[in-house]
Amino acid sequence: MRIIVPLILAAFFVVVALAIGGANVFWATYEDAPPQPVAFPHDIHAGNGVGQQNLPCTRCHLYVEESRFATIPPMSVCMECHGNMQSDKPEIIKLQQYWERQEPIPWQRIHSVPKHVYFSHKRHIKAGVDCAVCHGDMKVVTEVKKVRTLQMGFCVSCHRANAAPTDCWTCHH
Ligand code: HEC
Ligand code: HEC
Ligand code: HEC
Ligand code: HEC
Ligand code: HEC
Repeated sequence: MRIIVPLILAAFFVVVALAIGGANVFWATYEDAPPQPVAFPHDIHAGNGVGQQNLPCTRCHLYVEESRFATIPPMSVCMECHGNMQSDKPEIIKLQQYWERQEPIPWQRIHSVPKHVYFSHKRHIKAGVDCAVCHGDMKVVTEVKKVRTLQMGFCVSCHRANAAPTDCWTCHH
């Protein structure tokens, strides 16, 4: 018996340690954003503070009001400003090098729903749902992170609260 108790205790601590380690892995994938090829700051462009550009989201996410997908802007949108702007900043130099090579920037996707789920931006924007409800306040972030799980419970509870359809077919067809 003398040896069994410490063994059980040791096993218990191993389980706890694994659980915490596992939770950290989960937390990391949920919170951390993959590194982007160019460190694009949303706050400088979309924020309305001093020295910020106060651009509407639709200046870059061109199709968010008319289609399912918001889409990431083509480089030509960036070049409207960064083509002539002389800059010695390393991130702008990277941007201009992609442009000179005519190579699209390989942006890493952050938000997505599984293939079996139907989601449309257009319907939500038309219904007056603010981007921040699902993406957090993008005007103040330098780096995009996922701040909502975008899981079924999140979708369905808002649908229920707003008398939007909740039958399975709405989101799974
Ligand atoms: C000057 C152009 C520009 C403006 C203005 C802009 N964005 Fe973006 N946005 C980008 C680019 C480029 C990316 C891809 C790089 C990244 O994720 O950082 C992006 C990424 C995103 C993503 C993440 C996409 C994914 O991969 O899941 C969201 C969400 C987003 N923007 C929301 C917004 C919202 C909301 C606004 C307005 C408040 C806004 N953006 C304004 C250029 C812009
Ligand atoms: C309406 C004009 C405009 C557009 C369009 C625009 N930018 Fe900018 N961007 C700016 C201004 C102004 C700054 C601040 C420049 C400075 O501080 O020197 C800036 C800053 C940046 C910076 C930060 C540079 C640094 O290190 O401080 C990056 C990176 C950047 N832009 C990338 C992009 C990308 C990528 C796009 C296209 C998706 C884009 N910009 C579209 C005007 C614009
Ligand atoms: C009701 C929640 C909701 C709202 C409101 C919303 N989004 Fe999204 N967004 C999502 C979901 C869910 C995804 C992943 C969709 C997918 O996988 O097709 C996404 C993906 C994105 C993406 C990357 C994929 C794409 O569609 O190109 C961008 C960029 C984006 N959103 C920008 C915006 C902007 C800008 C607004 C406001 C004008 C906005 N979103 C409003 C839920 C929302
Ligand atoms: C903040 C509230 C809110 C959230 C969160 C939300 N929705 Fe919606 N959704 C609405 C509203 C309101 C409508 C009704 C729009 C209309 O009447 O056209 C709607 C409509 C829809 C429609 C169109 C329904 C139809 O019959 O055409 C689909 C599909 C949809 N949502 C899927 C989703 C998915 C998937 C998610 C989660 C990733 C989600 N929604 C999250 C509020 C929300
Ligand atoms: C408003 C949108 C919406 C409605 C309505 C909805 N779902 Fe979902 N469902 C989602 C989203 C988003 C996901 C993916 C994210 C997740 O796994 O939670 C999902 C995932 C699922 C999954 C996969 C779960 C997994 O672990 O991979 C099943 C099964 C499912 N839904 C069944 C249903 C059934 C049955 C109904 C009707 C009672 C329903 N859904 C109604 C949005 C919705």
